[in-house]
Amino acid sequence: MSTNTIYVFSGSGNCLDIAKNIAKKLGDTDIVLMRGAPEKTDATDSERVGFVFPCYAGGLPGGVEESFRAVKIAPGTYTFGVASCAAYPGVGLSVLDSIHKLDYWNVVTHQCSCIWLFPHDLMMPKMGAEKAQERSERLAALIGAEVLGGVRSAKAPKANAFNKVEASAWPTLSKKKAAKLRSTEACVACGQCVQLCPKGNIRIEDGRAVFGSDCIGCLACLQYCPQEAINMGGVTVKRERYHNPKVSAAELMQKIIHVE
Ligand SMILES: Cc1cc2nc3c(=O)[nH]c(=O)nc-3n(C[C@H](O)[C@H](O)[C@H](O)COP(=O)(O)O)c2cc1C
Ligand code: SF4
Ligand code: SF4
Repeated sequence: MSTNTIYVFSGSGNCLDIAKNIAKKLGDTDIVLMRGAPEKTDATDSERVGFVFPCYAGGLPGGVEESFRAVKIAPGTYTFGVASCAAYPGVGLSVLDSIHKLDYWNVVTHQCSCIWLFPHDLMMPKMGAEKAQERSERLAALIGAEVLGGVRSAKAPKANAFNKVEASAWPTLSKKKAAKLRSTEACVACGQCVQLCPKGNIRIEDGRAVFGSDCIGCLACLQYCPQEAINMGGVTVKRERYHNPKVSAAELMQKIIHVE
């Protein structure tokens, strides 16, 4: 039992870092990872239940909506949602609001993890990784204080028509992108990506990481590879890798992280 439960999906660590910083303000919090099916779905004993997740192509990462639906929250519980994105939050908060009516929601922009589309500093407002991290920590602490104070958002989150179209196209596009994942000869078969992949989509074959087709495009394998040995098509070869400086691959592999 914990006073607060925060459900988190994170590919390159930004959302887990935001959740940890909110949890530090709240105290006694279980952070439940939603990279796979969440290990704890019954949050009926928590006073506050939150969700932190990224925007992927205007929508949600694969499996996250199903995880939202699996979570049980007692009537009268204070609920909150935080979307992280590079520029715009998309439909995720409104999807969440339709499943668990939100008392409070907010958005934190951070470095862009979508390396096949943009370099990581292409965020709104544009800034480098260090400044973006300071800003994210500041905003997460502010959100934590507002949640602790029981602040309620004046309006429900909205979804725009363009984001809805984008989000519906994402599963097909994601499959196409997944087919481009390859390891290079820099791979030392350390197995980190195998352990990190929430879909069990990576195996080691002949001393190299090999990818299947069951991929949700989270890019954790690519962004955290210690050898920078994973690419998604030619565009990522020269692009600088990014993962949140305060979140390790080992933390992303956890099912539940407790913050006192
Ligand atoms: C596949 C993919 C699609 C993305 N699509 C969007 C998007 O539509 N809009 C946006 O503002 N950011 C987008 N992003 C950026 C992430 O939402 C942002 O970097 C977020 O902070 C990542 O959180 P994480 O590090 O916890 O995974 C995308 C990232 C990925 C990997
Ligand atoms: S994390 Fe990188 S080096 Fe390790 S097995 Fe995967 S691709 Fe190879
Ligand atoms: S293969 Fe890589 S990008 Fe795809 S789901 Fe696994 S870790 Fe994420």
